[in-house]
Amino acid sequence: MNNLKKAIICFFIIGSSSAIAKPAESLIDAQNAIKSRQAVHLLMYNSMMKIKEIINNKKPYNASDMKFNAQNLYNLTLMVEPYFMIDTSGFKIENHTNNNLWLNEKDITNKSIDVIRLSQSLLSAAEVGDKPQIASTFSETFKACKACHYDYKIK
Ligand code: HEC
Repeated sequence: MNNLKKAIICFFIIGSSSAIAKPAESLIDAQNAIKSRQAVHLLMYNSMMKIKEIINNKKPYNASDMKFNAQNLYNLTLMVEPYFMIDTSGFKIENHTNNNLWLNEKDITNKSIDVIRLSQSLLSAAEVGDKPQIASTFSETFKACKACHYDYKIK
């Protein structure tokens, strides 16, 4: 399946479902939800740092490494919104999500779609090996990560 089709399908699935977060049912449930969502973000960060190393010539350009990391990043972005769908605000567990997040689900959906869409452009650029386009879509994706952190991540 080509990337455009994938993007349209994921847009349809995520964009059309008005996801509503459910409260975590127990302390364990909340702890697992926090660990899972943090893992998704940490893995996205790792993929982005690997891509950045190549962009900044810290590592030699290698088309298959670039594609591998861009594909992983794209796959992970599909998990951003679903993993915010367990509301952990009812439990006192250390984490860095601002509780306002669960009051702004539409915005979370939109911000999640932004990273999906931009990382998908990054993947397309990686697939054809277009280096300037890789650099610019990388920086756009990074801005979309930061936009959500600015509003909903506690430092
Ligand atoms: C829809 C909002 C949103 C988007 C989009 C988003 N993040 Fe996050 N991110 C958060 C929130 C909220 C947290 C805090 C999670 C927690 O601790 O509960 C977080 C946490 C993190 C963390 C810390 C994880 C940890 O181990 O505690 C990293 C790293 C991170 N994000 C990277 C990224 C990257 C890279 C992207 C873009 C590819 C991204 N995020 C996109 C909201 C977002």
